[in-house]
Amino acid sequence: MSIEVVPTNAGLGAQIKRVDLAKPMDDELFAEIEATLDEHGVIVLRDQEITPEQQVAFSARFGEVAVNHNAKDFGIDGSPEIYLISNITKEGRLIGTPRAGSEWHTDMSYAKVPARATMLHAIEVPELDGLSLGDTEFANTAAAWDALPPALQEKLAGLTGTFDFRGRKRGRPISEETIAQYPPVEHPIVRTHPRTGRKGLYVMRNDCTGIVGMNVEEAQLLIDVLAEHIIRPEFVYRHRWCVGDVVVWDNCTAQHKAMIDYDLPQRRLMWRTTVKGSVPF
Ligand code: SIN
Repeated sequence: MSIEVVPTNAGLGAQIKRVDLAKPMDDELFAEIEATLDEHGVIVLRDQEITPEQQVAFSARFGEVAVNHNAKDFGIDGSPEIYLISNITKEGRLIGTPRAGSEWHTDMSYAKVPARATMLHAIEVPELDGLSLGDTEFANTAAAWDALPPALQEKLAGLTGTFDFRGRKRGRPISEETIAQYPPVEHPIVRTHPRTGRKGLYVMRNDCTGIVGMNVEEAQLLIDVLAEHIIRPEFVYRHRWCVGDVVVWDNCTAQHKAMIDYDLPQRRLMWRTTVKGSVPF
């Protein structure tokens, strides 16, 4: 039986029905899932009851699974590829990064080889009297590129951005050792998707700190204009989490942002895995 794909009818994203990630998955089924991710940028699989090992195995179908620099503090025993995003404390200590990704970004743009895909699995979702909190928003960078006037597209094509790990505020202090692993890098600000060939904007505030050949003010203005354009409502999907959701996003097509509209005793716990990508072109 093949999958059923239900687009969100928002700026990007689709729900995939009739998949149980706890069951073995043949190549044909995985190819359908991967093609849906390519087309929609974000996929949602509801009601999944999977172990950490099963999440890592599903992630590995998309490519080599990375071990996050936070996993040594916020990992799961036996599954170093899973890193916890959470505001929960145990014996006075946080079990995960509490405010991860609260600004628009795409994962690991500060690295020479950014992440291809990221997967979040909702274990606990905060709520207030039945209203779920802690949504995640996604924005379609390819649709944002398509919507630009040709004259601006022409001006942007060929421009290179500088991306710096130190540009963004993070959920917790980062060690000097980690910072040293990520010296500033350069990427095209108009990126070609390595699988579909579709072009998309690869620029955001904070992580993208400059444009090669432009002075600071001119570059910042362009970064601000494009960052705002990408998150126009017509390009955005806002995911409202339910326990058991597995959401995968393509970091070339989608930017994302976590909504921090909850606090203890409202608890949020996500298992996160990241799949390595390729050098942007
Ligand atoms: C992230 O940026 O990876 C976190 C997203 C979220 O927790 O909703």
